[in-house]
Amino acid sequence: MIYLDNSATTKPFPEVVESFVTVATKYFGNPSSLHELGMKAERLLEQSREQTAALLGVKTNEIIFTSGGTEANNFAIKGVALQYRRRGNHIITTAIEHPSVAEPCKQLEELGFEVTYLPVNEKGRVDVEELARMIRDDTILVSVMHVNNEVGSIQPIEQIGQLLTRYPKTIFHVDHVQGIGKVPLDLKKAHVDLCTMSAHKFHGLRGAGILYVRDGVRISPLLAGGGQELQLRSGTENVAAIVAMTKALRLSLEAYKRKLPHLLAMKERWMNELNEIADIQLNTPSDCSAPHIINFSLNGLKSEVFVHELAKQQIFVSTTSACSSKRRAPSKTLLAMGMESKKAESAIRISLSYENTMEEISVAVRSIKQALKKLKEVTR
Ligand SMILES: Cc1ncc(COP(=O)(O)O)c(C=O)c1O
Repeated sequence: MIYLDNSATTKPFPEVVESFVTVATKYFGNPSSLHELGMKAERLLEQSREQTAALLGVKTNEIIFTSGGTEANNFAIKGVALQYRRRGNHIITTAIEHPSVAEPCKQLEELGFEVTYLPVNEKGRVDVEELARMIRDDTILVSVMHVNNEVGSIQPIEQIGQLLTRYPKTIFHVDHVQGIGKVPLDLKKAHVDLCTMSAHKFHGLRGAGILYVRDGVRISPLLAGGGQELQLRSGTENVAAIVAMTKALRLSLEAYKRKLPHLLAMKERWMNELNEIADIQLNTPSDCSAPHIINFSLNGLKSEVFVHELAKQQIFVSTTSACSSKRRAPSKTLLAMGMESKKAESAIRISLSYENTMEEISVAVRSIKQALKKLKEVTR
């Protein structure tokens, strides 16, 4: 098997699964319970919070554990809207956000908020000056993703954060789900107020995520209840998944330090090999793009059929993002980059992890060429 769909989800590290099993079986107490088992679970939870904060270079009380990226994004966007609705009702986001940002924004529009969608250029990047022109007195939130999940373009988060220091009433949220462990982001230096991360994108398990909430920023709770997670996110904490996520975060950040050259070399080789194939056009920009995402279009062929053809040979890639591939919608990022819909409909995404190898590339490229040949013959 050659797994090239790491932006959809990653294979959990074995040590991470071990941690999950140990905590789930030995320390299964509810961290809110007063007895010994509860206290042990609470200690593990707080140790995870301390370690996560240290790994991200932030304060312990700035880490809120959630069930994943979708919850953290919803919490950030709706939490700001609800908290600051008297201050203003204008939100700025980009045209290429993940649905877990775009859909809450749409819901808020239905409730009377005004949302401005920042366009991107042909490389999938926003223009900071254009953003500056959009900011108004009533802008309460700017939400910009760090790394795009479909093409891998990287947004100028530090410059945006710098710009927003001139607007202290505007909260800055960053969806860092695809960036963590692959493209560094210094939350303090970039003046980020809220930041989303998700365990299963960095070899942790599904069911755990992080929302960084900068000290001093207030947001309204999305999940009200028993007041767990610093009174901001109620619900009994998934301690085993959180402990496992902390380990995955540490291992991923270590992998970044040791193996980034390997990832970059693999990406370069992939881009060169794909560039040589006549029926393929690369969509991922060569500059300002993440080291693990490669997007390309197939000349007139349906991407879905191509994905299935490769899967027959145990090679797993995806059409755009995992969420839109089931809906069979063309990539909205590619459309926003100005691509015609036919080309956007034939897009394929390869997404790598540090675990992939150079050897896999030759095997996969051979299969890609065979699949293209077969599908061209069928559609002729
Ligand atoms: C950029 C981005 N944000 C948010 C999410 C949602 O994360 P989760 O799957 O943990 O809900 C994803 C998942 O694909 C993503 O790629």
